[in-house]
Amino acid sequence: MRIDVISIFPEYLSGLELSLIGKAAKAGLLDIRVHDLRDWTHDRHRTVDDTPYGGGAGMVMKPEPWGEALDDLAESYESDERPTLIFTSPSGEVFNQKLAEELSAKESIAFACGRYEGIDARVAKWANEKFDVREVSIGDYVLNGGEVAAMVMTEAIVRLIPGVIGNPQSLVEESYSDAEEGLLEYPIYTKPASWRGLDVPEILLSGNHGKIDRWRREQSRMITSLRRPELLEEGE
Ligand code: ADE
Repeated sequence: MRIDVISIFPEYLSGLELSLIGKAAKAGLLDIRVHDLRDWTHDRHRTVDDTPYGGGAGMVMKPEPWGEALDDLAESYESDERPTLIFTSPSGEVFNQKLAEELSAKESIAFACGRYEGIDARVAKWANEKFDVREVSIGDYVLNGGEVAAMVMTEAIVRLIPGVIGNPQSLVEESYSDAEEGLLEYPIYTKPASWRGLDVPEILLSGNHGKIDRWRREQSRMITSLRRPELLEEGE
């Protein structure tokens, strides 16, 4: 998979070189390219923003650098599949595991990281010609920019690519996975069996895997009903 990220703070994305994502890139499973939007400006100050038409607080990202950056990006693909272009925005559809799964099957994804009050709305409209455009939020809160959101989505997507995670069974058994009926994960424990006066639930030491599975499912349902009751309704 190829992932491009366009940002005015490319250094922010250096975290993508670490851990499993960095390893996947080194192993050739992933091609991550981070671009500085200011490379597509032509003035001395490398200006990327301007005041909003209609008034209001804050600044808006100018369309011209984005247009040129996305032209070059669109030209650079070798694959025939239409690339997906994600505009990070608190006004987008909300990212979730289902979207991560859908995106993990794509050949090419690009993130356009907005800053300030956002990007001139014509950019996304124009980009529809060359990309499958989506506007995506990582949750109902406002960040200073889309870089962290692009990293969150990249991590959730990349770990679903076959070969990135050593043990594929861990993907099956985690929260939100189909095998867990979209529920939150049960509590987990490791050695020692007793720690600071707290004991691991007896049943996990019993060796009775039927009972253990049942106990874990009950725990998942209980935790989900306490913390995220709407997930139980969705699963019904
Ligand atoms: N930019 C600012 N807030 C955001 C959010 N919640 N998700 C994605 N991009 C954002």
